[in-house]
Amino acid sequence: MRNYKIGSIPGDGIGPEVAREGLKVLEAVAELEGFGYELVDYPYSGEHYLKTKELVPDRIIDEWRGLDAVLLGAIGHPDVEPGLVERSVILGLRFGLDMYINLRPIKLYSEGLCPLKDKGPEDIDFVVVRENTEGMYSQIGGHLKKNTPDEVAIVNGVYTWKGCERACRYAFELARERGAVRGPDARKPQVTLVDKDNAIRPHDLWDRAFAQVANDFPEIDTDHAYVDACCMWMVKNPEWFDVIVTTNLFGDIITDLGAMLQGGMGIAASGNIHPGKTSMFEPIHGSAPKHAGKNVACPLGMISAVSMMLDFLGERGGSERIENAVAELLRSGAIPSADTRSGISTSAMGDMVVAEIRDRS
Ligand code: IPM
Ligand code: MG
Repeated sequence: MRNYKIGSIPGDGIGPEVAREGLKVLEAVAELEGFGYELVDYPYSGEHYLKTKELVPDRIIDEWRGLDAVLLGAIGHPDVEPGLVERSVILGLRFGLDMYINLRPIKLYSEGLCPLKDKGPEDIDFVVVRENTEGMYSQIGGHLKKNTPDEVAIVNGVYTWKGCERACRYAFELARERGAVRGPDARKPQVTLVDKDNAIRPHDLWDRAFAQVANDFPEIDTDHAYVDACCMWMVKNPEWFDVIVTTNLFGDIITDLGAMLQGGMGIAASGNIHPGKTSMFEPIHGSAPKHAGKNVACPLGMISAVSMMLDFLGERGGSERIENAVAELLRSGAIPSADTRSGISTSAMGDMVVAEIRDRS
């Protein structure tokens, strides 16, 4: 039997509530698809830090190399210094395990979920490939004369040829796959590089890496947009995009915008990927402390992250079962919105997805 070792970090706030629903769906799909898995629980979170003062210990990174994948709920606690636990858990994992791609699909399942006028599911279906280990997130920098009137703060944006090249290559390969799925009569596959090389000259490293990789994919159209213009196009003509490849920070920012186009933070999912190695899947929303403990958070982002994980593990059938069930529940209006106003509790929504998956099989 196919068997996977999966780490689980439910985390803070609404994290444990949505993670529970993700695992509920995973259990149902495993049974239908006939694969097994072992869950390894990890307590790392702001909550855990407040109790124990423990962040992620270095040895854990090595332990995680032995996992097939990790599912993360959400990290962030209002009583902990902002970013401390996020940097240890989220960035610690991304950097420690060299998960160099942050894959963020932006797909609209039902017109009613989209805040844009006259845009429907046929207009919003693209993927952001966010470089995930460099850029403004390099953690290289610091303070001089801290807490004095002369304080200086420096942060370095770090871009390497290797980092840009592999992100671009991943994006082109993904565009090729998406094109093959759409078939020859549909639009040509396209990759858009998003950077800011008019103002930030060293971003031209991205242009050169992109151009070199593009040579290996003559059948794929290329495009380029500055990040500010990209935000404009995402609202004005989202149908232009197929695959976007971009820097760590720009990818972070444009995917919150992208999440709104597909129905809100409650539905957006992501994968932190190192092809062939341990990868981590999470909703893109945070711990939303104000909604915590109320059973009102939308678990669809987490559930879709489970679908992405299964796709990564080669369990395409299981991945599609989840995606099709979520799509149908949103399309039919059975789930009217992907936020706390849906009128459906977190746990009931997880049950609905499981029921839909069973009904369709
Ligand atoms: C995300 C989040 C993280 C990021 C934070 C929590 C460090 O915003 O996954 O998009 O900036 O990458
Ligand atoms: Mg973000």
